[in-house]
Amino acid sequence: MVSSDQLIEIAKRRGFFWQGSAIYGSLAGFFDYAHLGVFLKRRWETLWRKYFLGLDENYYEIQPSLIMHENVFKASGHLESFADPVAKCGKCGNAERADHILEDVLKENFEGVSVEDLLNLIKKHGIKCGKCKGEITEVRQFNMMFPLKLGVGKQEKTGYLTGETAQGAYVNFKQMFEVCRKKLPLGLAIIGKAFRNEIAPRNALIRMRELTQAELQIFFDPDTIEEHPNFKDVENYKLQLFPFSNRQSNKIEELTCKQAVEKLKLPKFYVYHLAKVQQFYLDVLKLPREKFRFKQLSDEEKAFYNKFHWDMELNLDSLGGWKEIGGVHYRTDHDLKGHQKTSSQSMEISLEGKKVLPHVLELSFGVDRNLYSLLELAYTEEKDRTVLKFPRAVSPFDAGIFPLVNKDGLQEKAKQVQQLLEEHGFVVFYDDGGSIGRRYRRIDEIGVAAGLTIDYDSLKQDDATIRDRDSMKQIRVKIKDLPQILRKFLQGEELEKLKS
Ligand code: ATP
Ligand code: GLY
Repeated sequence: MVSSDQLIEIAKRRGFFWQGSAIYGSLAGFFDYAHLGVFLKRRWETLWRKYFLGLDENYYEIQPSLIMHENVFKASGHLESFADPVAKCGKCGNAERADHILEDVLKENFEGVSVEDLLNLIKKHGIKCGKCKGEITEVRQFNMMFPLKLGVGKQEKTGYLTGETAQGAYVNFKQMFEVCRKKLPLGLAIIGKAFRNEIAPRNALIRMRELTQAELQIFFDPDTIEEHPNFKDVENYKLQLFPFSNRQSNKIEELTCKQAVEKLKLPKFYVYHLAKVQQFYLDVLKLPREKFRFKQLSDEEKAFYNKFHWDMELNLDSLGGWKEIGGVHYRTDHDLKGHQKTSSQSMEISLEGKKVLPHVLELSFGVDRNLYSLLELAYTEEKDRTVLKFPRAVSPFDAGIFPLVNKDGLQEKAKQVQQLLEEHGFVVFYDDGGSIGRRYRRIDEIGVAAGLTIDYDSLKQDDATIRDRDSMKQIRVKIKDLPQILRKFLQGEELEKLKS
């Protein structure tokens, strides 16, 4: 079983990510992506974009600025409510997240518990300061927004780094509605940074102060929430659900979408999107079904803006179990109403003669947490090798290309194959250093799905060997067929079935 320290060490040694500002002793909560991390992140984001923008022709990607007007966060409620409870030591002044120190000791979730109750529980269980063992004397709410001074002198203003990408979609909604098809649902997707002054950043990409989110805000007519035009397609699709009522039994319930609507009293529009999110994890990223679930949050645990809130969770050994990686949030008209009030501008739109203040369903994904999870789920120790078995579609390169030896024209032939594949849009990695076995190990260690070798027979037969990283099986294919065969292999086809 891999630990989070081991994963962080592997990520650093192989070039996925490491702590930011490291030459100055680092800065907690900030991580820099190295070259392989950037490849992986880009791949994940590309798959996300293609899949979620593909859900409807009226879904678009936008890129709002990350620093926004103070009123944006007054209107959204972030300046008042985007806070976590901080516990302070009366002796050394050390600050820790109050619900987390209780969670670490009692192995229960204390999200949403009041500051008074948290302090009482800390005292009752004799929990002391993690640094000096002094008495914890205070628990209070700590706001996580980062204010910034903008401009100088009389013109100086306070702006805020956004705490979630979502607000960029809400403040642009009206204008996007006008310039696009003037119909609902309208989807606005943003992949971008969010900033949170986390009390205790930890576990590398899991709790950062500067993070990447991929969020889709779906604006819809609230009168249509009980339906979805494509619900029929998913009604028998089985969801992995962990409803609040199962907290004691700790059981995951498999319900079809139809059953989820009936039994859990969830609207079809909401359940349809649960199915689409689960399909992204199971069918696009090809993660194991038993590692994935949706967890229902209680009223106390829900984010302040949500009416329905189920989190996507993955079961991660390195973090001791299920970990939130995203959420499906029914935010109602909370945000548009807030902006309407604060800006004194109507956010209503006209739909076939009817005035509508749209409601929002938000599909929110923490990109960094997803990447950490992929790294853990990929990490495999075998008898004589360590492999990162990334899903083929996200592995940092499509293929490694190797001449068997560096003479007799093999390098030139391998370079031709590299050029051919690059012309077809593949991202490949050429390596002619060391024995072929060492080169295979190198790509195994960074998770490249396919190894292509050019040997003496390749010169005669105009072919190459493809090696599957996971099974280590090999087949020979004609070079002219390589782009098509590699594409199918990366889409998940078994190597054996691809012989040309
Ligand atoms: P947590 O309860 O773990 O603090 P959260 O409920 O505050 O997370 P959300 O506000 O719902 O998280 O944010 C949406 C997604 O953004 C999360 O599901 C997670 O994947 C990601 N995320 C949130 N905070 C962080 C963070 N500090 N570092 C990395 N990713 C984060
Ligand atoms: N946009 C939802 C969140 O950050 O939680």
